Amino acid sequence: MPPVRTLDAVKIFGITFDYPRRWPLAIPPLLLIAFLAGLFVLATEGQSRLESANTRVQQSDLREQRLAEYQNLMIEAETAQRGYLITGDEQDLAPYHQAEQHADALLHALRLSYGDDATALDLLRQLRLATGKKLGELGMTVALATSQGGPAAMQLLRTGEGRRYMGQIRSILATLVAREAIERAAATARWRADLVLARWISGAGAVFNILLVMVAARLVLLDMRRRSRQAAELRTQKQVLEDQVAARTQELAALSTHLQEISEQEKYALSRELHDELGGLLVSARMDLSWIERKLGSQELTVMQRFKRIQESLSAGVNLKRRVVEELRPTLLDNMGLFSALRWQIKESCARTGLKYVEKYPEEELHLLPQAAIAIFRTVQEALTNIVKHAEATTVDMAVEIMDSELVIQIADDGKGLSPERLKSLGSHGLASMRHRIEALGGKFGIDNLSSGGALVSARLPLEKILDRDPARVEAAARG
Ligand SMILES: Nc1ncnc2c1ncn2[C@@H]1O[C@H](COP(=O)(O)OP(=O)(O)OP(=O)(O)O)[C@@H](O)[C@H]1O
Ligand SMILES: [Mg+2]
Repeated sequence: MPPVRTLDAVKIFGITFDYPRRWPLAIPPLLLIAFLAGLFVLATEGQSRLESANTRVQQSDLREQRLAEYQNLMIEAETAQRGYLITGDEQDLAPYHQAEQHADALLHALRLSYGDDATALDLLRQLRLATGKKLGELGMTVALATSQGGPAAMQLLRTGEGRRYMGQIRSILATLVAREAIERAAATARWRADLVLARWISGAGAVFNILLVMVAARLVLLDMRRRSRQAAELRTQKQVLEDQVAARTQELAALSTHLQEISEQEKYALSRELHDELGGLLVSARMDLSWIERKLGSQELTVMQRFKRIQESLSAGVNLKRRVVEELRPTLLDNMGLFSALRWQIKESCARTGLKYVEKYPEEELHLLPQAAIAIFRTVQEALTNIVKHAEATTVDMAVEIMDSELVIQIADDGKGLSPERLKSLGSHGLASMRHRIEALGGKFGIDNLSSGGALVSARLPLEKILDRDPARVEAAARG
């Protein structure tokens, strides 16, 4: 028999694996959980990086918009100055006044939107200076035109100072716009790189997942194989044990049959000895005593009484011997056959206890094997003893019949019946030995409660196993 393996338990995260080689099964799910957690962290990180790139682009757009607005404001102020010089209409100066009012606020907003970008802040400082100069030049030209007339203002215009300041403003604004383009390009490049990284991560994740599923499938397959191997081993072990139990049971049954046979043989030998030897001794003692009595011819009362007492004791001894001989081996069984012995037995058992009985037998005696006859007789004897001992019955009904190729014996009583637990376990000796005797002859034994009350003992025996086919014995029995 293969050795039984001891089972160790391995505990992982509170899950008990009752067999050490099964713990690798926990690896794929654990890896999957770790992978999903990592993926979640990476996805959150990527999301926030994308959001920051988006914010950068939006802020850059806003700044560029403000720079364009600023440039527009200055161009319109300059155009207003020119218009006014040509038309002399005060209304044309409206954009110039607007620039004077809004330029500072716009610059302040720009400064805020650049945060702590030192280069941009420096450029904005320069822009503020150039703007101040330009607006000063514009204001001076307008004042000259108002006070001294157009030509004086044109004179100032021709110096080209205003154009230079405007040129500075344009160039600073262009530098700032160019920086925004670079900023946007950098943010977009970062965004693209993040996108590529995200794709790589999800691609690698998919491959990793597929690998995990394959590993898990393999582990499950191995586990299934191991389980079916174990199941096969267990089946084999169970079969071996069942075979051993069956062999032992057979051995014990054979031993029991053998012991029963030996016991019957010994009883038979003892009964013959008692019958022949003790019977002979007692009979000759009685004859000798009669002879002495006659020879003495004593008429003395006390002597005659003594002789009578000895005669009675010897008769009692003969009766006792006869009873013991019958108990050990019913002579009827060997001389007349099973049915006669059963008739005598039921009459004896019921007469002792005042039980009524009904009996039924086949018309002719069967020539049974000696061991079958005694086994059946002992079974019926025990059934009757049980009725007398336990049943509290008033009537016994015994039927012996030949049905098909079986001898069927049924003994029913109208007593209290067997308790349910008795019916379930027929482990006590009397019932067990009845069952054993009948089964050893290839028959079937049963005991059950009758619906009308009382118990029914039944035995069915195949005739071919119990009939005596030995011609010598059959002939001897026929001669009587
Ligand atoms: N005809 C019956 N009616 C009621 N109870 C019965 C009857 N036959 C057997 N029993 C019950 O079944 C039990 C088992 O019977 P069994 O012959 O095996 O043992 P036993 O008679 O108690 O002892 P043993 O026969 O070994 O001297 C009895 O103790 C009794 O309770
Ligand atoms: Mg009994």
